Amino acid sequence: MEFIDVVHGRRMVRRFDQRPVPREKMDRILDVGRRGPSAGFAQGVDFLVLDRPDDIAAFWQITRHPESGWDLDDIAAGPTVLVLPIPDPAHYLARYSEPDKIAFGLDDPERWPVKFWEIDAGMAAMLMLLAAVDEGLGAWFFGIDHGEHDLLIRFDVPEGLRPIGIMGFGFRADDERPSGSGSKRLRRPFGEQVHRGGW
Ligand SMILES: Cc1cc2nc3c(=O)[nH]c(=O)nc-3n(C[C@H](O)[C@H](O)[C@H](O)COP(=O)(O)O)c2cc1C
Repeated sequence: MEFIDVVHGRRMVRRFDQRPVPREKMDRILDVGRRGPSAGFAQGVDFLVLDRPDDIAAFWQITRHPESGWDLDDIAAGPTVLVLPIPDPAHYLARYSEPDKIAFGLDDPERWPVKFWEIDAGMAAMLMLLAAVDEGLGAWFFGIDHGEHDLLIRFDVPEGLRPIGIMGFGFRADDERPSGSGSKRLRRPFGEQVHRGGW
């Protein structure tokens, strides 16, 4: 696909056909994510992949709020692969303690004006959203507001690490249509958002 078609073709997909995604397809998407830029080439983002039905079921069970949680119908049409991009600040602190970086004074996490590990995870996520379009899949980035701690314990994520969000992948369901805020709000005009030569 042409790059511009990939960009224009991308939107969040929230309903999926339950056919499994072939492993090679998903690995190509993950490899695109791995190829994102990273501060100091620290490469401190890991990817937790859940693609077994039992693991996906556990994900929903743990993260579904008992009162305000997801509709069961939405869960039944949920992604067949979940990917959690998980940055580890320790990689960045170690990298920025090396001789060519130490002068920046970023060997203490409190001194980072912008947490580059979160930026890098976002860059990886964006690349994977685009790679999904190129692979003919739908993809979704979403947050969870319940059960994160238990989820991370369930899947043996080292203590102190947390995902920047959850990514869902799969074949688009036949009845899938544009949904969410992106289908209800207009894109801001170019001239309002872009400030050339000054604000
Ligand atoms: C940081 C971030 C968090 C988001 N969280 C959610 C979410 O929790 N649930 C959801 O359905 N969509 C979520 N979205 C998707 C946005 O609603 C969506 O990107 C936006 O409405 C534009 O639509 P489009 O991506 O389909 O073009 C999130 C997107 C980003 C970048």
